[in-house]
Amino acid sequence: MASPLILLSLTHLLFLLPAALSQSAPAPGPAGPINITAILVQGGQYAAFLRLLNQTLVLNQLPNQLNNSNQGMTLLAPTDNAFQNLPSGTLNGLSEEKKVKLVLYHVLPKYYSLEDLVTVSNPVPTQAGGSKGSLGLNFSGRANSNQVNVSSGAVDTQITNALRQQFPFAVYSVDKVLLPLEFTEAPAPESDGPSSSPPVGKKPAKGPSAADGDGDASTPAKNGGGKRMDMGVGLVGGVVLFCMAFL
Ligand SMILES: *[C@@H]1O[C@H](CO)[C@@H](O)[C@H](O)[C@H]1NC(C)=O
Ligand SMILES: *[C@@H]1O[C@H](CO)[C@@H](O)[C@H](O)[C@H]1NC(C)=O
Ligand SMILES: *[C@@H]1O[C@H](CO)[C@@H](O)[C@H](O)[C@H]1NC(C)=O
Ligand SMILES: *[C@@H]1O[C@H](CO)[C@@H](O)[C@H](O)[C@H]1NC(C)=O
Ligand SMILES: *[C@@H]1O[C@H](CO)[C@@H](O)[C@H](O)[C@H]1NC(C)=O
Repeated sequence: MASPLILLSLTHLLFLLPAALSQSAPAPGPAGPINITAILVQGGQYAAFLRLLNQTLVLNQLPNQLNNSNQGMTLLAPTDNAFQNLPSGTLNGLSEEKKVKLVLYHVLPKYYSLEDLVTVSNPVPTQAGGSKGSLGLNFSGRANSNQVNVSSGAVDTQITNALRQQFPFAVYSVDKVLLPLEFTEAPAPESDGPSSSPPVGKKPAKGPSAADGDGDASTPAKNGGGKRMDMGVGLVGGVVLFCMAFL
């Protein structure tokens, strides 16, 4: 008597099974392919930032980090105008390490919508490591307006528009380069070189690292090898530290 019922539920199962399988199969990773270069190129006024991202190899790291994070990520992209308005020589005066730090200071290891940024608790951590821990940024804004101000302590500016605002990745335009306060303050005493540091605030005379020059495109690739490794380790370390902060 019961057999037709069992048969019925069995056939049901047979129909349900493939449906269940096919439902779980096509779920993509949390971060689909996001092309940061394309976002910035389409923005039309981020060539200088893109060059810096690329030069410091952060451009190559971000997709991996994005892929490995379930928090997403937010990028603050200064316009070409912002770079033009930097005091002349600012970028060329930075060591490679500081350039990386400057770029990472524009990366928040979490996705924030503009509304999130209005109410976020300050300071907001960035990817830039620092001797005093992660360098933060302060955000403020008015509820129900999309106007958000951002401050590094040294530089105050506004988010002027969203190039992308969709989890897991947000890209906002800023019209000033966010220089970390510590770049404009007296340099911290600790430095890994020998103690022949130049006087405070003065640009170091041509030192051992004169390779910097003005040759953006001509950096010898071989020299970069070790440094690139360091940066990768630094990035990973930063992410680990950041994650630990949540434990
Ligand atoms: C990303 O976009 C740029 C510019 O549109 C393109 O040249 C590049 O091939 C794209 N990269 C990937 C991985 O799709
Ligand atoms: C990054 O730099 C490399 C080597 O200089 C260059 O070939 C590549 O086109 C650059 N990519 C972008 C997106 O600017
Ligand atoms: C993203 O991460 C997953 C596993 O976490 C990995 O299988 C996949 O290859 C990664 N994709 C990219 C583009 O790195
Ligand atoms: C943002 O900055 C502008 C100009 O610096 C100022 O007028 C405005 O009140 C600030 N807004 C908020 C919400 O702090
Ligand atoms: C952020 O604001 C706090 C408190 O208002 C302040 O102590 C801190 O120096 C600010 N940091 C930055 C980066 O502006």
